Amino acid sequence: MISPGLKGIKAAETAISFIDGARGILIYRGKEAKEIAASRTFEEAAYFLWNGHFPGREELGNFSEKLKQYRQIPSHTEKILHLLPNDIDFMSVLRTAVSSLGAWQPSIDAAIRLTAVLPTMIAYWHRKISGLAPIVPNPEYGHVKNYLYMLTGKEPPDAHVRALEAYMVLTLEHGMNASTFSARVTTSTESDLVSAVTSAIGTMKGPLHGGAPSEVTKMLNEIGTIENAENWIRKKLENGEKIMGFGHRIYKTKDPRALALKKILLQAGQDDPWISLSLHVEKTAVKLLEQFKPGRKLYTNVEFYAAAIMRSLGMPDDLFTPTFTASRVVGWTAHAMEQAQNNTIFRPDAEYTGEFPKSFVYLE
Ligand code: ACO
Repeated sequence: MISPGLKGIKAAETAISFIDGARGILIYRGKEAKEIAASRTFEEAAYFLWNGHFPGREELGNFSEKLKQYRQIPSHTEKILHLLPNDIDFMSVLRTAVSSLGAWQPSIDAAIRLTAVLPTMIAYWHRKISGLAPIVPNPEYGHVKNYLYMLTGKEPPDAHVRALEAYMVLTLEHGMNASTFSARVTTSTESDLVSAVTSAIGTMKGPLHGGAPSEVTKMLNEIGTIENAENWIRKKLENGEKIMGFGHRIYKTKDPRALALKKILLQAGQDDPWISLSLHVEKTAVKLLEQFKPGRKLYTNVEFYAAAIMRSLGMPDDLFTPTFTASRVVGWTAHAMEQAQNNTIFRPDAEYTGEFPKSFVYLE
């Protein structure tokens, strides 16, 4: 039997996260992700995912020190970033920069190094292609605040830090999604953690996975007004096209991450015309998807409201997927470590549908 896309196939055991797609529940190591996002920092959530417990004061202090220490881009990687032409797409740049880091074996220390340096790389590239000088990390700031600071060179407002922190905690892990699976497959060959994350970045960039939020802004820009929404969505569905930010392999109800992000967005301000447009497009698309694809249970996924959150932070579209990468690296590295601890190499079979040689005879 073939399962295209490995739908419904359990390919590993994991203690890292659990998703109940029918009820819309996401659990990180026994705790609901939305509760962690509402009460913990990105640092605490990452520490929790890797270690299985939240850090005490001293553990958090040591952990933050390490993040600080590893935030700087190594000089050889900075030279590579400097040499890369500005018209290469952002995720390919990240894939190349991360790949140049070396060959660190799966360990929490290596996971911290990758997590610490990614936002600095993203900010470096963003400023380079904008014709701006890079900003060095501020040792006084936490992980998420530093990221926003390195992008703009200004101290970000607390509301922006809180919104991005919630987004990053809600997206740092999500079971056996395509990029995490990539990381686990690479690790299963006893390759290193940098290679696992490089594979995952290459997988993340596709529009059916991490590339969706910028497609969502493109869609909302094209729709433009509330009045235009129904016709625009109907036409797309009549042409057999997909509506970006809707549908999910696992969630057959509302994605709990989308609900949590929507709540944050509504707290930020309902008068923003972009927010009203997003709310209207959600309502209209869900109605039309039920008409065109009855019974498929297509609702907003995390990417739909991620796009609105990023936009409310003033982030340009090309930063959406890299920002998702800066959070998901935590899940990738957690899974790579879990895979390395209890490893079987991934090597599925395929049903051959091609020709056999005419003169082919099976030997008994
Ligand atoms: N718009 C229109 N129809 C859709 C959509 C959509 N967004 N999503 C699924 N469908 C339809 C499919 O055409 C299919 O119809 P069919 O039964 O007539 O063939 C049915 O619903 C089932 O969908 P599949 O694509 O088979 O579901 P799958 O689990 O393979 O795909 C996926 C999930 C890739 C997320 C899909 O819903 C999609 O392409 N959505 C749009 C892209 C997107 O938003 N991606 C971000 C996902 S979240 C993340 O990766 C972090």
